Amino acid sequence: MDNNPISPSQRRGFLITILAGLGTAVTAVTLWPMWRFLAPRKGPGALERVAVARASVDLGAAHFFNFRGAPAVLLQPSPGNFAAFSAVCPHLGCIIKWQQDKGEFLCPCHAGRFSADGKVLGGPPPKPLESIPVALEGDQIMVG
Ligand code: FES
Repeated sequence: MDNNPISPSQRRGFLITILAGLGTAVTAVTLWPMWRFLAPRKGPGALERVAVARASVDLGAAHFFNFRGAPAVLLQPSPGNFAAFSAVCPHLGCIIKWQQDKGEFLCPCHAGRFSADGKVLGGPPPKPLESIPVALEGDQIMVG
């Protein structure tokens, strides 16, 4: 005689439910750190635009600044027109320099040369400088 009001199939179902919940919890605890590592950063500075004072970019001169954790450069090639580029050379990652007398960028590592609009003029760089959008807002140049 069985006096237990819970049938064996009910016990089995309860045990399966407990094990499934436990398995889900263990999987979540295991995968969460991997998700945090692989997910795109949303912290401060990850997607922020950078404001640069318009007065700090002279006509024909270059203004280097930090953009999202990497060097970038702003130019004013003609009055009131601004362009921004990553200052990281697309060849092997050296930081480019602006040669105002020639109106072009030079990469000091392997003599890569870029025009004022970022195109490759010579040397080993396989592609142009990465362009960054700019917008004028009053006395500020908003980059990004
Ligand atoms: S890293 Fe710039 S030309 Fe090689």
